[in-house]
Parts: sequence; structure tokens; C-alpha cells
Amino acid sequence: MSFGGGKVILLGEHGVVYGRPALAVGLERGAHAKASIHATNVLDIATWNLRVEPDPQGELLARAFAEALSRSTPDAPVRVQVDVELPAGAGLGCSAAVGVAVIAALDELRGVERSRVDLGHEAIHWERVFHGNPSGIDNMIAACGGAACYRKSEGLDRITFDRSFWLVVGDSGEASSTKERVAEVARFHERDRAGAERIFDAMASLAQNGRLAIEAADHPRLGRLMDLNHALLNALMLSTPRLEELVAAAREAGALGAKVTGAGGGGCMVALCAEEQRAGAVRASLEGLGASSFITEVRS
Ligand code: MEV
Repeated sequence: MSFGGGKVILLGEHGVVYGRPALAVGLERGAHAKASIHATNVLDIATWNLRVEPDPQGELLARAFAEALSRSTPDAPVRVQVDVELPAGAGLGCSAAVGVAVIAALDELRGVERSRVDLGHEAIHWERVFHGNPSGIDNMIAACGGAACYRKSEGLDRITFDRSFWLVVGDSGEASSTKERVAEVARFHERDRAGAERIFDAMASLAQNGRLAIEAADHPRLGRLMDLNHALLNALMLSTPRLEELVAAAREAGALGAKVTGAGGGGCMVALCAEEQRAGAVRASLEGLGASSFITEVRS
């Protein structure tokens, strides 16, 4: 099975669309795909009970599948079967994970060899179908995983560190569209360019400091940076009452910091803990509010 991973953005979402750096970590959960020769081209996503035929004018998955097939070596028609372990529209990079898994499965069937970095670059075409103007962070992390700093002009830069930390991801249950959130921020940028640029500069400085905090295993500092980033996302109107409730609960339960993650306007929040036991308590407080959640350890 070919794999594409989900991701959690720790610092810098939206600023990254405007050329600023962002920090993200890859998830062990994501999408798994397998391609086989078939009578017609078809994409089967069993998890969602969905069967899609490629159609350049069709709905998003049909268009993305058509794009992936048109860019892959022409050959016999294929069936690509996909299992997805992530919620869609929740800020965890689901579309990129599926795209990377599908392209890797097509590569495998057709004997195409490329590095995970090249696979990540290739998946930007899939992501453009879904998100219009993606920065590239989701597809690069989906392909390469790990903890990394990403900047459009420089690509992924892996972060190495000695001490693990834990993330608790809580789902607001509110679906959101990355394309629409990015478009809203673009409208704000058009209306108040100087104001938006100041926010993106502040996000860049949080991401740069966050990298140093991870490298120094200074988790309390990383948590404070995440709280500040959440305030900036709030200034862009990207939080919701439900996300605020989950962020506040995570902080009260002892998280070092908590914020919206991904495009916002719904989707997930993420909380930082330095110990696994504390992460368990934070998760329990989110579940107590009815939010589905999971814990992931970030290892170097
Ligand atoms: C989405 O996961 C992150 C955003 O910054 C959009 C992007 O980088 O393409 C909101």
C-alpha cells in the first residue's frame, strides 16, 4: 500500500501562503492506496463509500483524479482503492494525504521511481484542484512526514531535536473549506494590505522562534508561541465559539499552549504537552466536551 500522511500545523498557517515560514509535523495516520489494472479508470474510497470516475469538469475528487491520471505515464486504465484515516475538511491535510497516496500508488503500478520530495512536489497539482492557491506545505508534509519548517521559496527543512513532545488534536466537528478560508484571508489582504502583512510577519517570527524552542526542547516557550499564534488567527476571524471552547478547555487541563490548526473556521485545534500523562488529561477534557480527539507523540 502507498501512503500519504496527515499533518498538524504548529505555527504559521495562512502566513505560509504569503511566503512566510510555518512549522508542521506529519501524522502517522493518513491515507493508504493501491492501484491495479482495471476495465475503466476509477477511484474507490471505501472509507467514504465513494466511487469516482475521472472528469476534468466534474466535482473536486473527479477533477483531481483526472489531473493525477493525465500527469501519470499513459497506460491501461486503473482502479485506485483508498482507505482514509483522517476527517476531511478538518485542517489535518486529508486531501493532500489522499493525493500523495494515489500518486504513489500510480507510480508503483507504472514503475515510476521518484523521491518522496519529488512526490510531494507532484501532489501540488492535486492540491490546486482542491484549494486553488495552496502554499504546498500540506502535500510536502504528506509525502515526507517528520517535523519541519516549510517556506514556499525554500521547501521543507527537517527539524531535528532530542526530546519528544505530545500533541492532542481535538475536532470541533465543524467542517471547513480551506479554499474558502484562504480566499477570505486574501480578501482581508486586499482590503488592508499593511495590516495583513503585519500579522503574517508576526506569524513568521513565531514560526522562527518555534523552531528554536523545539530544538532547545523548550516546550513551555513553544506553547506560549502557539497561544500567540492562536490570537493572530483570531484576528483573522479564523476561530469559532466551539474552537474557543476546546482551546480554553485544553489550557485549563494543563496544556502548555493550544490553537486552531490548519485553515480554521472549523476543523481541528491542537494542544501541546511535554508529558504523555498530561496529554491524556487534556484529551479527557476535550472528550468530556464531546469532541473526538487523539494524541500523537512527536519524536525526532
Ligand atoms: C492549510 O492546511 C494551511 C493553509 O496555510 C493553506 C496553505 O498553506 O495552503 C491555511
